[in-house]
Amino acid sequence: MNTPMISPNVVVCDSSADAARYVADLLASAIRSQPEMILGLATGGTPVDVYRELIRQHREADLDCSRVTSFNLDEYVGLPSAHPQSYRYFMQQHLFKEAGFSSANTHVPDGMAADLDQYAKQYEQLISQSGGIDLQLLGIGHNGHIAFNEPGSAMESRTRVVELAEETINANSRFFESTDEVPRRAITMGIGTILEARKIVLMATGESKAAAIADALEGVCDPSNPASALQRHANAVVVLDPPAASRLGS
Ligand code: F6R
Repeated sequence: MNTPMISPNVVVCDSSADAARYVADLLASAIRSQPEMILGLATGGTPVDVYRELIRQHREADLDCSRVTSFNLDEYVGLPSAHPQSYRYFMQQHLFKEAGFSSANTHVPDGMAADLDQYAKQYEQLISQSGGIDLQLLGIGHNGHIAFNEPGSAMESRTRVVELAEETINANSRFFESTDEVPRRAITMGIGTILEARKIVLMATGESKAAAIADALEGVCDPSNPASALQRHANAVVVLDPPAASRLGS
């Protein structure tokens, strides 16, 4: 695999499959060196191959995830954990069950909580009581969102309930029978919450992410562009395939 560094924080891999392996290796080596680490996780299409590779390493290369504590970024409001499009369900299917996580150690925000505002505060407390996130995995939306922090989100924002942008609802409708079924609200870690992670790994693949990546890395760092918050982090790595990197430096 050829993974030249084009800047201290950006790695462009040869393909999306190589990018997934690269990110999986980062996560796996963090787990191997600190088996009780606190890992921040994402859902969506981007990390699926990363999680597949972690499962492979669990089965074939002694990767022990049983002592890892995980915190997911976000969850739809109003979807129970058994709903096939809930992020809890996604994580069970794509990672937790198959890679030997202990379910008591996995945290996905509860989009069914009776008092969502109170629950959001508790989620923040749980993260800080655990000692804070060692490594946070992120994807990026076409509009530059990270987690469900849509454009306009404050850089200091914390875990809270948000309204999803129309663009996000449309992009995520591919996982539902119709656009009408996509929840309009979500509970998400804030940008401020994410920036407190000791290391951040953002992965993006495909041409459709190229503009968002260029804006995130080379655009102004402000709330119109949530992923630009990574410019403020001292230990963030962005892992791309060539199409996602195609607008950098232009
Ligand atoms: C998911 C999340 C979102 C996704 C983003 C990209 O937990 O926080 O920010 O990372 O919407 O989604 P995909 O990977 O489906 O393109």
